[in-house]
Amino acid sequence: MLRRLHPVQPDSFAFTPANLAWAEGQIAKYPAGRQASAVIPLLWRAQEQEGWLSRPAIENVANLLGLAYIRVLEVATFYFMFQLQPVGSVANIQICGTTSCMICGAEDLIAVCKELIAPAPHTLSADGKFSWEEVECLGACANAPMAMIGKDYYEDLTPEKLRQLIARFTTGEVPVPGSQIGRYSSEPAAGLTSLQAHAEGRVERNASVGLALSIGDTVKRIDGTEVPLSTPWIAKPETPKAAKPTAAVRKAEKGLDPALGEALSAGKPETDATAPAGVAVAAPGQNTATGDAKPAAALDARQLAAPRAGAGDDLKKIEGIGPVAEKLLNDNGVFHFDQIAGWSEEDVAFFDAKMDRFKGRITRDRWVAQAKIIVTEGLERFLERARSNDY
Ligand code: FES
Repeated sequence: MLRRLHPVQPDSFAFTPANLAWAEGQIAKYPAGRQASAVIPLLWRAQEQEGWLSRPAIENVANLLGLAYIRVLEVATFYFMFQLQPVGSVANIQICGTTSCMICGAEDLIAVCKELIAPAPHTLSADGKFSWEEVECLGACANAPMAMIGKDYYEDLTPEKLRQLIARFTTGEVPVPGSQIGRYSSEPAAGLTSLQAHAEGRVERNASVGLALSIGDTVKRIDGTEVPLSTPWIAKPETPKAAKPTAAVRKAEKGLDPALGEALSAGKPETDATAPAGVAVAAPGQNTATGDAKPAAALDARQLAAPRAGAGDDLKKIEGIGPVAEKLLNDNGVFHFDQIAGWSEEDVAFFDAKMDRFKGRITRDRWVAQAKIIVTEGLERFLERARSNDY
């Protein structure tokens, strides 16, 4: 298949400020003279922002990396993951058409796409919301046939199920990814025939689906303001295990303890002069905008009834906290970085017990250490360090 630039191109492209900062962080990871290695992450982020790669976007990436346009064009046209034409504003649906999926009904799924979206692949639907294409094996053959919609897999599809998915995406819903017939992973479709004891007590969804739900960006365009700071595609162990803190974290923790510890134990108001600008420090249990240190009725002293001054911090800035985990924290009276920064081991256990399917994440992703850096050095500095993995 020929991969060429689309005949209709926008006049310009610019990364959003947050995406540009992210891109600069990526470039800074490479030694002098090797910045070209950031070409794929930058192209990918441009595509995450716009949905596809236009010529101005390719040129913008080339300019950022100091490369000739043709060098970046070569990369963009080589890899099929880069879309060189506009895609649906809601989703580009990628139907796997390779052997397992083909045998199990991929052609029927493609027929649905032709009927509901457009007769030809890489073509926008009449309302501009969808596009589709056939792709090669996506590695979920045991749950064939399947489609990748946005960033996530929808497996065990039938034409009717695909119709329903498209209808739900049309209304703004994001259906739960994974098997659409209730398979946990790739066990026999009729259910487990062995190792049944292993299924007892497991979390509701497998790690892949759970992660997709916690990140919540299946079909979302990325402007850089709510992106997880880590690389979620790098698998992390499910078993809660405290990572060895880096020297930077140890230093931050060391610097924090006297000030924050004192503030927490003394119940200082949120205007504590030892905190960096823009970061509030208050005692756990402080539950009103007026600085009332009394915990709300029925709440533990570590919980707030409501965010101070009517607005909580954006806890998603902490690696490992996505929209769903943040809501869970809010539901449990946690709204501010300084609350997390002040958690003792006992507090961690207290909140971990309330974290539903995110159990173990507080320790595994070192939320307390991250929050302490935010409290002591400020959010901007924390984000800078996160972009260069310096924490
Ligand atoms: S053949 Fe479709 S995922 Fe492998």
